[in-house]
Amino acid sequence: MQSAECPPTQPFVIIIFGGNGDLSRQKLLPALYNLDADGYLHADGKIVLVSRKELTTDTFKSQIRDVFKQKIPEQYDEVIWKKFVAKIYYQTLEATNPQDFTQLKQLLNQLTTHNVDLIHYLATPPTLFGTICENLGAANLNHDNTRVVIEKPLGKDLASSRKINDEIAQHFRENQTFRIDHYLGKETVQNLLAIRFANSLFEPMWNNEGIDHVEITVAETLGVEGREAYYSTTGALKDMLQNHILQLLCLVAMEPPNNLDADSVRDEKLKVLKSLRPIVGKDIREKTVRGIYTSGSVGGESVKGYLELMQAFDKNNTPMTSHRHLAETFVALNVNIDNWRWEGVPFYLRTGKRLPKRYSEIVIFFKPIPHSIFSQKKEDIEPNKMVIRLQPEETIELHITNKVPSLAQDNMKLRSAALNLSLSQAFNSQRRIDAYERLLLDVINNTATLFMRRDEVEAAWQWIDHITRGWESFHYDCYSYVAGTWGPTASIALPLKDNRVWYE
Ligand code: BG6
Repeated sequence: MQSAECPPTQPFVIIIFGGNGDLSRQKLLPALYNLDADGYLHADGKIVLVSRKELTTDTFKSQIRDVFKQKIPEQYDEVIWKKFVAKIYYQTLEATNPQDFTQLKQLLNQLTTHNVDLIHYLATPPTLFGTICENLGAANLNHDNTRVVIEKPLGKDLASSRKINDEIAQHFRENQTFRIDHYLGKETVQNLLAIRFANSLFEPMWNNEGIDHVEITVAETLGVEGREAYYSTTGALKDMLQNHILQLLCLVAMEPPNNLDADSVRDEKLKVLKSLRPIVGKDIREKTVRGIYTSGSVGGESVKGYLELMQAFDKNNTPMTSHRHLAETFVALNVNIDNWRWEGVPFYLRTGKRLPKRYSEIVIFFKPIPHSIFSQKKEDIEPNKMVIRLQPEETIELHITNKVPSLAQDNMKLRSAALNLSLSQAFNSQRRIDAYERLLLDVINNTATLFMRRDEVEAAWQWIDHITRGWESFHYDCYSYVAGTWGPTASIALPLKDNRVWYE
């Protein structure tokens, strides 16, 4: 275990609603354990799990211990576990029952002194956000030292997102509201800020004079098994693009903020979101592609198609027999940002389930050279590229054209090769830090830079709503693609229309 690089937090209590659920067990508690192991959490920090399920604290603790042994075996250590588990309390609570919140308050009064920071983490479906906040308000658990943390889906369109935000805003001020997009907690995503604003090399050409186009791909091999109900009303555009991919785009495209304060960064991201050119009219067919996977093979294993999966899931209801009833599992967009810096630079975005490989990558394609002095024509000299890989490994490659070593005198052969930086090797990282560790530490420390402000979320929905409305009004159905391939052929054609190809 490494020791904390900054002083431990202030005393705090984090209350996780939905504490017995998957997010809590698989992500939040392991992240808190790692933070504690590394010395980041105050000795008086407390973690209160609340959930409908009747469980004793001891049963819950022993279940969690099993999860840790399986999920983070390298980090699990009996001594550290004993220290961590002393912080944990479990209480049964029905989110709709105000009396349960009075009991919660009694527990909190026993655990803490008056002024300690309370963090309410709502790891529940968003339909409960309003009720929980109302009950917290009624129990006076929303005083100045409290924060509320919420996660996507923050709505399914602008109207529903506003409703969620309004319900929360009745009881918590904006600066008490922390909206998580776990992509912002990933190390390499934060490193984007460092690459751009801590180096003088790139920023002078980080605009339409130096950059030809940008590509952002988030490819997954997983299907939607186990999440059929959620996915049937969501789809890749709302599940992945509205939040994670647009946030990545903002960090690539924003102007330099004055500093790293939450509002300075968020003001700049908001400007990007507001500059996105709406995709409407004939551009719906020209600039968007949606798809669903049919049966195929991924990683050598046969997998069912999405339609079959949803039919099996929906067999007790109206059978879904056509693509028209299904939300897409793949989406690709050609996006323009209407401002001085990015005029004429397309951003190609794509994400999909059941693709051949799992990776997330941002590729910056620089402009070609203006003239070739070599025997290779300038069109045949590959332009420079920067490939920023967020996962599975965290690497940055700079593709540079070089002379191929040879004694031949008549013609100098050129070829692109990559300068390759692996962040784990360069910084000798002992283990990979999970996004939730960064984000939970920031919430505890009341640092909001990596969280989304209400106006950002709403600007993103406003832009996405143009696309969903366009798909509906033009009856733009999903194309199909075989599981284990790179999406529908229409997606390959998307950059091809501009004589470009996806980087694979
Ligand atoms: C979630 C989506 O927000 O992100 C999932 O709901 C997706 O559908 C997941 O699988 C991907 O996250 P990561 O960190 O594994 O890329």
